Amino acid sequence: MLKSHNCGELRKNHAGQKVTLAGWVHRRRDHGGKVFIDLRDREGIVQVVFNPQVSREACEIAGSLRSEYVIQVTGEVVLRPEGTENRKLATGDVEVVAKEAVIFNPAKTPPFYISEDEEVEESLCLKNRYLYLRRPRMKDNLLLRHRAIKFIRDFLDAKGFVEIETPILIKSTPEGARDYLVPSRINPGKFYALPQSPQQLKQLLMVAGFDKYFQIARCFRDEDLRADRQPEFTQLDMEMSFIEIKDILQLMEELFTSLVETVRPDMRLLKPFPYLSYKEAMEKYGTDKPDIRFGLEIKDISDIATGTDFQVFRSVLDCGGKVKGICVPGCGHYTRHQLDELMNFAKSCGARGLTTIAFTGGAITSDEVKSAAAKYLTPRQLEEIAGRFEVKPGALVLIVADKLEVVNNTLDELRREMAQRLNLADADLLAFAFVGDFPFLERNEAENRWEPMHHPFTAPRWEDLSLLDTEPAKVYGQHYDVVCNGCELGSGSIRVHNRQLQEKTFSLLGYSKEEMESRFGGLLEALEYGAPPHGGIAIGLDRLVMLFAGERSIREVIAFPKNQNAVDLMLDSPSYVEKHQLDELNLKLKHEILRHDEKEHGT
Ligand code: AMO
Repeated sequence: MLKSHNCGELRKNHAGQKVTLAGWVHRRRDHGGKVFIDLRDREGIVQVVFNPQVSREACEIAGSLRSEYVIQVTGEVVLRPEGTENRKLATGDVEVVAKEAVIFNPAKTPPFYISEDEEVEESLCLKNRYLYLRRPRMKDNLLLRHRAIKFIRDFLDAKGFVEIETPILIKSTPEGARDYLVPSRINPGKFYALPQSPQQLKQLLMVAGFDKYFQIARCFRDEDLRADRQPEFTQLDMEMSFIEIKDILQLMEELFTSLVETVRPDMRLLKPFPYLSYKEAMEKYGTDKPDIRFGLEIKDISDIATGTDFQVFRSVLDCGGKVKGICVPGCGHYTRHQLDELMNFAKSCGARGLTTIAFTGGAITSDEVKSAAAKYLTPRQLEEIAGRFEVKPGALVLIVADKLEVVNNTLDELRREMAQRLNLADADLLAFAFVGDFPFLERNEAENRWEPMHHPFTAPRWEDLSLLDTEPAKVYGQHYDVVCNGCELGSGSIRVHNRQLQEKTFSLLGYSKEEMESRFGGLLEALEYGAPPHGGIAIGLDRLVMLFAGERSIREVIAFPKNQNAVDLMLDSPSYVEKHQLDELNLKLKHEILRHDEKEHGT
């Protein structure tokens, strides 16, 4: 080894020892003839002092060092002089007095500071990802990810789960996104699909008798990207035979609880994890992935609104819409400008407008209630509204009247926006919760057909089977989600385990016999060979680690993510390929997307 110790491991008890360190120059300072270097490796940072009275040669080398040079230093660990200890550094009690130094490699000046955590323009940090990953925060994030995955593997191993890899070149498994396709050279005109998830394969493993499976599985989805979505991401994918919903939820609660205790012991949980029905989640929070760390719950005032003279409310209700709102404490003093901002925010969420009622004082009088709608509301109606929201003096009620979907969406966004402004969400709380009792199907009105609320392999509630033919809208699914702090962490379900029912649900979803056979023939056949009752769940690992790391985007916990356009800027991928490669695959590009040079040469 070119080093005897890690920079970050040196402590008081190493004082007096001779050590050899190797790492990167994090910072350099010159002080009265001495040079101070913060030397960094994966384990941390230690201060190295170059003193001309100890080694003139080493000191000369130190004089030529710049940020990010890779060096080796040999010297003695000494206690820092009293009063100069650095409490911010784990190694802050000691420093290394350099006797020898070697420059392994100089470095160009990086395009951004490694030693400061200031924001970097996205394209720079993605293109120079290896430099961005040198930042201590990013290093900590990836180490946290490693520890979380290691814990999960050990935990599940102890519970009797077997980790089994499934192929990446597979056939389309519908999870609601577009597939990434891979052309087959050997089978001209045919394509593999990259797995959107290993869903069908894990079910086939159940048929094969591996009754407790898990995998740290890479999944690929060609969909619009956001802070919590990447085109390739990682799931903790699990499946079990002979289980019921409560077993899975119990296992997840145990896993997350012990995982947090191990990797983020400083963070708190709500125990037991709350369980919300889909209906309750939508009514209280307007979303099926609520952040339950704070209140600001949605209240329905349609019944009060219907008796008012306020045309905005009346016209919406006449068209089957809803009038709902949230009550934000302490914002009753908002200025015209601030209220306009909120109105624009609501409009950006799709709402036509926002009705605000500021309850500035203790009484419900025209002096103390400020609202453009107030003149259309009787004192009694105002009282009722105040009662419904349990208004305290100084509160601001925000009301949206619109189609239910728009109301829910806008109030969900407003709720989170106001919580952020008022700092209501406890950053040290990981509020895991389960959401269940979902409808089995969802209506796609535009295309006049049913879609699965989860995926087409989910089982309906057994007691609702008879409704499948008569009233499918009333059927509940055996589907559940895990959410945490407003993020959908994972989903799962009990699956259909016999061919007859699977064909029935496929046909409800509009698949013809031929489509069923060509898309899911393998699975359907397997269900005829003694498939056990089974179910499972998949957790978005990137999202989980993002929450543990306190980050706002999963890119900060993925070593090499892609940008918003699904491009890897560092490797320049996707990229054009040679014509002969396309020929081998029997592919031809449309003229309008031919490479510039190909067009010019007419190749
Ligand atoms: P689902 O499609 O809900 O379920 O995915 C499970 C979890 O995977 C994460 N996730 C993503 N993370 C980052 N980027 C993405 N593009 C992305 N898409 C999904 C989310 C999500 O909750 N096979 C089923 C699970 C099952 O039924 O067992 C499935 O994949 O955290």
